[in-house]
Amino acid sequence: MKSLYIHIPFCESKCSYCDFCSFVSNEEIKEQYVKKLCTEIRAKGTSERLYSIFIGGGTPSVLSIKQIEKIINAVQTSFILNENIEISIESNPNSLSIDKLQAYKDLGINRISVGVQSLDNKVLETIGRIHKAEDVYKIAPHLSKYIPNYNFDIMIGLPCQDNISVQQTLNNLIAFDPTHISMYSLILENNTPLFNRVKNKQIVLPNEDEVVEQYELGNQILSSNGYERYEISNFAKNGYECKHNLHYWECGEYIGVGLSAHSYLAGKRFCNTQNMREYLKGDYKPVYVEELTNDEKIEEYIMLSLRTSKGLNLSKLQKELKYDLLIKKQKEIKWLIQNNFIEKQGNFIRILPDKFYVSNAIIEKLI
Ligand SMILES: C[S@@+](CC[C@H](N)C(=O)[O-])C[C@H]1O[C@@H](n2cnc3c(N)ncnc32)[C@H](O)[C@@H]1O
Ligand code: SF4
Repeated sequence: MKSLYIHIPFCESKCSYCDFCSFVSNEEIKEQYVKKLCTEIRAKGTSERLYSIFIGGGTPSVLSIKQIEKIINAVQTSFILNENIEISIESNPNSLSIDKLQAYKDLGINRISVGVQSLDNKVLETIGRIHKAEDVYKIAPHLSKYIPNYNFDIMIGLPCQDNISVQQTLNNLIAFDPTHISMYSLILENNTPLFNRVKNKQIVLPNEDEVVEQYELGNQILSSNGYERYEISNFAKNGYECKHNLHYWECGEYIGVGLSAHSYLAGKRFCNTQNMREYLKGDYKPVYVEELTNDEKIEEYIMLSLRTSKGLNLSKLQKELKYDLLIKKQKEIKWLIQNNFIEKQGNFIRILPDKFYVSNAIIEKLI
């Protein structure tokens, strides 16, 4: 079964660290975009069942209820939805409202992710967020009534952030009883305003050891409150792992629609244009198609699966990609097991829970 990703490239303002494909746009562009997006959805419809849908961005909650309704209608008339389909939407605390939550629920959206990042106003201001902690406190108590399966995104390694700030943010969010929390380490993206300020020494970021400490603290708070880490940055109550993300990490097929969206189908990766003017002209022909070689598929599977707590399925690798990791990386695996970085249990190899913070180095040894 396939998943569907729908990209909404609009935000109310641009955060200083973000290099996602998103812009501040006027209502006319948004309206034209939704129209073209619906045409693309109809053009890409298939008779296969969809396993999950993710409306991401950017900030989809900046669209009006009518616009989201048009998008969902286009999906419903173009695809067959699986009975237990997960339909997620990303949002920002200040562009959410009770009316929007009610409308999302009525449209069948059954998972919502709210970008909180921090509940520390000083941190929020430094990274250029448009919302304040008060906006989160205003909307959070209403989430469970409309969409009980909801996630908060937070970030660590941010300027002005210390252990106490991370601890308070997590404890205050956990008090709302979300089903899921994502905790991302800041990636300092080239040429973002934050990157330039750090380069010019106008802003100092927490150092690597401090970020590891924040991550371990977050992990400990989350696990002691019943949130199990199922991927490096993702924590969920039992049964509430994000199906859409799990599908990506298992290298499942997906169709991407919208500006800059990627698809992965029949071993090929397709990429839509990143140019809004071209997209609005109705050009959905991929600007880039790449057929993955078997070696690339192996590398991708090793990289993605080892980020999850379940780990890498040796039989799947053997059966689907004809690759025997135990033989090819015999020496490395032996060393990693002896030094307590990974463990092998039955058909699975996984990184030990206390070594997740060095997962990149471990994965590098195995690809
Ligand atoms: C594409 S955003 C969608 C949510 C919404 N636009 C918002 O920010 O509130 C998804 C998440 O990516 C994370 N993110 C964005 N830029 C990042 C960066 N440079 N490093 C780490 N995480 C980042 C943030 O936690 C954000 O909530
Ligand atoms: S982090 Fe979210 S709100 Fe901020 S610019 Fe990126 S997509 Fe938009």
